[in-house]
Amino acid sequence: MIPNRVKCFLAGPVLEAANPRFPGRPHQRLADLVGEGDTRVLEICAGTGYLARLVARQRPGAEIHALDLSPEMLAVGRRRAAAEGLDRVTFVHGDAGALPFADDSFDVVMASYGLHEIPTGVRAAAIGEAARVLRPGGRLLVVDIDAPPRRSRLFDAYMRMVEKPHAREVVGRGLVDALARAGFDVAEHRSAQTRPLPFQLIDARSPTDGRRTRSQLETRSITNATPCPEPTQTPIAP
Ligand SMILES: C[S@@+](CC[C@H](N)C(=O)[O-])C[C@H]1O[C@@H](n2cnc3c(N)ncnc32)[C@H](O)[C@@H]1O
Repeated sequence: MIPNRVKCFLAGPVLEAANPRFPGRPHQRLADLVGEGDTRVLEICAGTGYLARLVARQRPGAEIHALDLSPEMLAVGRRRAAAEGLDRVTFVHGDAGALPFADDSFDVVMASYGLHEIPTGVRAAAIGEAARVLRPGGRLLVVDIDAPPRRSRLFDAYMRMVEKPHAREVVGRGLVDALARAGFDVAEHRSAQTRPLPFQLIDARSPTDGRRTRSQLETRSITNATPCPEPTQTPIAP
């Protein structure tokens, strides 16, 4: 068994190498959805901020925050951003389920391959937090794993051996239904794009009907964060 600490140090460089090689280029597809007028952008579960850096290159007017629970991932991202001269990306250590930002702070919140990793309750909190920090009518852009249209033994084996059971909750209509329950208006859901690693793309508008909760930032803290947690560990307590 590889110790968690070692996994932490390997994960960032592995993702940096793997992300540009994903079939169908899911990160690039998501980055292309960010518009010219989207100047305040947040990536949650950002890892090394690979997606945030793609957006920074394409949108010179945007200020981008990349938030993750793992200091090791963030350290890799900071080094890469500095080497690439991308000083408009700010790396933030934090929990997607308790965002350290004020209400209505962003035009766009993005998540790439993060929401399947976090347990059900934290995912619901993260979706609620995305709604809160987005301006009314702001967009939540998501790319995440999806099931292939026809049953695949390879996919089933991958889900059984690599992912935690709650990861299954995002495939199919799982994630779009969760967004709709939180009041998001799902403008576009492109399911099962590309084989052999199918992914889904979601473009959803934030609720404008007052369902968003006010910030309780003063009662929240990230100081108890476990360094580089297993993605499915219980998040930081409020
Ligand atoms: C599979 S990685 C994806 C990283 C990145 N978005 C990418 O596409 O390369 C999932 C990331 O989610 C982060 N994560 C897990 N739970 C989190 C939470 N509650 N808040 C913030 N980040 C979290 C992990 O630390 C990890 O970096």
